[in-house]
Parts: sequence; structure tokens; C-alpha cells
Amino acid sequence: MRSFWLTALLPSLAAADWQFKSRSDLAPPRLNITIPATSDVEQGFLFVAPFAGFPDKPGEMHGPRQAAPYIFRDDGELVWSGYSYYSIWATNFQMARWKGKDVLFCFEGDHNPGYGHGHGHTTFLDQHYETIRELRAGNHKITDKHEFHVINEETALIQIYQPVPMDLTPWGASPEQQWIVDAIIQELDIETGELLFEWSSLEHVLPDEAILPINPGQAGSGYNSSDAWDYFHINSVDKDSEGNYLISARDACAVHKIDGSTGEILWRLGGTKSDFELGDNVAFCFQHHARFISKDGSKEVISLYDNAAHGTEDGRGHEVHTHPFSQGKIIEVDTKSWSARIVQAFAPPDGLLSKSQGSTQVQPGGNVLVNWGSEGAMTEFRPDGTPIFHAYMDSGDLGAGVENYRAFRYNWTGLPHETPALVSLVNDDGTTAYVSWNGDTETKVWRFYAAVDEYGSREFLGEAERTGFETALDLGPKAVHAVSAEAIGANGRVLTTTAVVKTKEEVLPPGAAKASKPSLSVQVEGLREQVTAEKTRWAEYMILKFDRFGRLEL
Ligand SMILES: *[C@@H]1O[C@H](CO)[C@@H](O)[C@H](O)[C@H]1NC(C)=O
Ligand SMILES: *[C@@H]1O[C@H](CO)[C@@H](O)[C@H](O)[C@H]1NC(C)=O
Ligand SMILES: *[C@@H]1O[C@H](CO)[C@@H](O)[C@H](O)[C@H]1NC(C)=O
Repeated sequence: MRSFWLTALLPSLAAADWQFKSRSDLAPPRLNITIPATSDVEQGFLFVAPFAGFPDKPGEMHGPRQAAPYIFRDDGELVWSGYSYYSIWATNFQMARWKGKDVLFCFEGDHNPGYGHGHGHTTFLDQHYETIRELRAGNHKITDKHEFHVINEETALIQIYQPVPMDLTPWGASPEQQWIVDAIIQELDIETGELLFEWSSLEHVLPDEAILPINPGQAGSGYNSSDAWDYFHINSVDKDSEGNYLISARDACAVHKIDGSTGEILWRLGGTKSDFELGDNVAFCFQHHARFISKDGSKEVISLYDNAAHGTEDGRGHEVHTHPFSQGKIIEVDTKSWSARIVQAFAPPDGLLSKSQGSTQVQPGGNVLVNWGSEGAMTEFRPDGTPIFHAYMDSGDLGAGVENYRAFRYNWTGLPHETPALVSLVNDDGTTAYVSWNGDTETKVWRFYAAVDEYGSREFLGEAERTGFETALDLGPKAVHAVSAEAIGANGRVLTTTAVVKTKEEVLPPGAAKASKPSLSVQVEGLREQVTAEKTRWAEYMILKFDRFGRLEL
């Protein structure tokens, strides 16, 4: 009773977010890392775009507080918050090479969680986080959120859900149920937007292949164009070096290989019309993110994310399960023996089963990053299936219901045009400077300076190794009135210098204990000052400054 009463009285800490003194406006998710990265995770940063699976209601808050594309380190440190860089709703955030340059791209647009459809376009940022291109679908159609895949640094594969009227009575519909979703794929020239290839599911695949029938309306009931029967639901497109396409059709529980010149279906893996005999654990359903991995004669290796569950992102309707948990899968198909075998399956920690979304990234070094979609978690595996990193996309109360469509690991160099954020805060213990530079990957050391006069003269205060998003330097017990900072790269080069900021009185959260700082006792004796504790660089500087200017404070 008593402990319940105490708990009920405690203020909710989830509501507060003050992760960074220098960026009090940012509230990125705090990854809940349940398997800390081992030394054999692949090099690179994590690219995710988590969002709240359900809307806030009065008195309720859901994580993440700031749904957006993010780049994280696998120790949970923020590298870049993309909050405010994209409008409305953003997903499928990745890095790609476009014409020899590293770029970021992301879907931004409207989100219809009841149907798992998006309506928008793809926006590219360069290494400075500046928008350099917005690409829309060809043929007066609207890009869906699911796919954007860059081929040969030049073209992009996208996908569209086009509602069209059709006689659906042969599939058990009434004459009033006329609407069906034509799942369309397109290949576009990224530079010009030129439409190079278009393929429509209704021209090649009958609704016979649908796993979810038009009635009872689990995949749309067909009464109007807003509730069209999503019989096929393509959610990924890839292209191989021979010019053929691989599509994942979630609502057919099948992966189709398509001839890149004729559009004919070369083979079907899974679903009601599989061309292959499926070996142990090959069977998948409601899958995502099918990718070509390699081809050797009649043997082709692909990867995919097997949800083994269906349900809408907003929880509408009931769920369909085909396996107790979801899995990342690498599958080999043989077009001689027409058999398929599992090369490796990646089973989730905590038995996760995701009713929507998900991805399986086979990384260049062979490790595999699986993203558990609507379960809001990701795992990196060794090639043999051993999990070596696992994280949920947010923590505490905010962790519940967070979802993430896809996750990737990439090497990325970020050189923000945005200026760094610096604050200098004084409390009873002295002054501390905090600096951060959203998206920067290059700073190794931050140097801090006191502003000496209004003409820009400055004195070196000290430096701190950059270990995370924000770097702090304790400036000691004396007031330093104005501070600037300098970002130093690996080769000692100055990357940028901040503006001069005035020191402000620090405001601590109510009841918060003051951060303990290394203590330095300073004795002032006339015009001489003696540092009796640890002699740090800043302390030596303070003495010099004191002597030269004959005053204690700036
Ligand atoms: C479309 O049909 C569905 C199912 O009958 C219905 O719930 C919805 O309100 C309709 N929407 C419009 C825009 O008419
Ligand atoms: C992290 O996730 C685990 C597994 O779901 C959960 O038990 C734990 O409470 C979470 N921790 C935090 C801080 O959210
Ligand atoms: C990052 O670069 C390293 C070194 O070139 C490479 O071993 C690793 O596979 C790369 N990581 C990713 C995710 O591409």
C-alpha cells in the first residue's frame, strides 16, 4: 500500500527531456540497449526513423517525443537528429551513393496507418544536411513510403499503391465492392525524374494470389477508393545486375522475380503459386524487404524479413499469425531443382513477432541487421545467427508502442552547415561549457576560449575530447563571462568556430542533485592565485589571465 502511494506521488520523469544542455529543443529517443554491441559488430552508424504506434491522448504521452529520422551510434549516442528536416511523416531513412556522392534519402509525406500506405515523395540531403533533391513518382502517380532503392548510383526503384475500379465479383465481392489496389513499381532516373520502367501488378497477377480475401475486409473491403482491396501490397523492389526485378508482395506472402524487359514473372517463391519446393523454415508470410544477394548459375540467394504476422499499424482489425515469431532470412533458390533452402535464419531476442514493417540488411562484412518493425527494435547478428547487439527504439514509459519501418547500418561522414550549439552555465560550483554540433561526425576535440574583449580577442580555457553528441568542459569555480568553442578534426585542423555566447545562470530541474564535478580549491591571495588541487590546463590559464589583465573575471 505504502509503496504504491509513494509511486503515485512521484512526478513522471518521462515528460521531461533535457538530454543536452546545448540543445534543450531536442528530445531524441533513448535507445534501450539490452544486448550491448560486441567488438565484432560492423563499423558504421545506425539509421532509423522511429514513430509512435498510437496517438497521444490527454494525459498520455507516447514515444518517441520527436518522431524523425535519426543517426545513432550503437552505444546509444545521438549523431544526428533529423527532427524538423522533413515535414509531415518521414520513414525509410537511408544513406546511398548518388553519382559518386554519399547522400541521405527519406520518404516524407502523409501516413495512413490503417492501410499501411504513404503518399508523398523522396527527399535527398547531402553531407551538409542540405536538401538537394525531391523526387516524385512518374506518370502522375504518388510515391508510397515503402520503397526507395538506388541502383548503380543513378536510378531509383519506387512503388505506388494505385486504387482502380474493377469487377471483383469473381473473388467473392458484391457488385458494390469495386475498388482494388494496383501495386505498381517504377524505375526513375534520379536526376531527371524520367520514368524508365513501370510494372503494374494487375497486368500480371490475378487476385487469386491474395492471401487476405476481400471479405471480411482485413485488407480493404473495396467499397470505395479509400478502402480499396489491397490484394497484393508490394513493399520492396530490387534489381539485379541482369536487369531483372525482385518484388516482395506482402499480401500474397510471396516474392516474385520479374523479367526486366518483358515484365513477365520468371518465378514465384512462397504464396499460393510457389514455383519452388520450400525447405525447412523457408516458408514466410506478410514479409518485407526482399533483396538479391548473389547469383551463381541456377542458384540465387536472396534475403528478406519474414513477419509471419499481419495487422494494421493502428491496430484496426484482427491479426493473422503464421509463426510464433518473426525472422530475418537468407534463402537460396535453385531454378534447376526448383527447390529453396534456408541459408541462415535470424531469430529475435525476446521472441518478437511484428505485425507490420521490418527489414533485413546483409552488411558488407556479413553481419546482418534485422529491424523488428512494429515491435520497435533492432538486432545485429553474426553471420551464424548469434545476436551481438539488440536495442529497443526508446526507453521507459516512452518505449511502449514505438515502431520503426526499417533500420540500416552505414558508414557516414556528416559535415553540417548548421553552426554548433554552445552554452556556458554557471552554478555554485563554477562554470561549465557544453557544445554540440548536430550531425557532425568529424570533430575529435573541442577547444574552449574565453572572450577577452569586444574585438574578438580570446584566451584558451582548455579542451575536451569529443566522446558523444555533447561535449562538456568544466571551466572551474570562477565566472567566465563569455565563451566560444572550436571544433578540431582528426588532423588537428579547425573545422569550425562557434559564436561567442554569454555565460548564464544554470537552472537545474526541481530536486535535481547538482552534477558532481572534479573539485579544485582555489585560494586567492592579493593579486596572486594558487591552485592547490589538481593543476589542469584551464587553471594554469586562469592564473596567466589574472596576471596579465589584473582582474579576476572577464
Ligand atoms: C469507404 O468504405 C468504408 C467501408 O465501407 C467506409 O468505412 C468508409 O467510410 C468509406 N469512405 C469513404 C470516403 O466513403
Ligand atoms: C528495456 O527493454 C526490456 C525488454 O523489453 C525491458 O524489460 C526494460 O524494462 C526496458 N528498459 C527500459 C529502461 O526501458
Ligand atoms: C564501414 O567501413 C568499414 C571499413 O571500410 C567496412 O569494413 C564496413 O563493412 C563498413 N560498414 C558498413 C555498414 O558498410
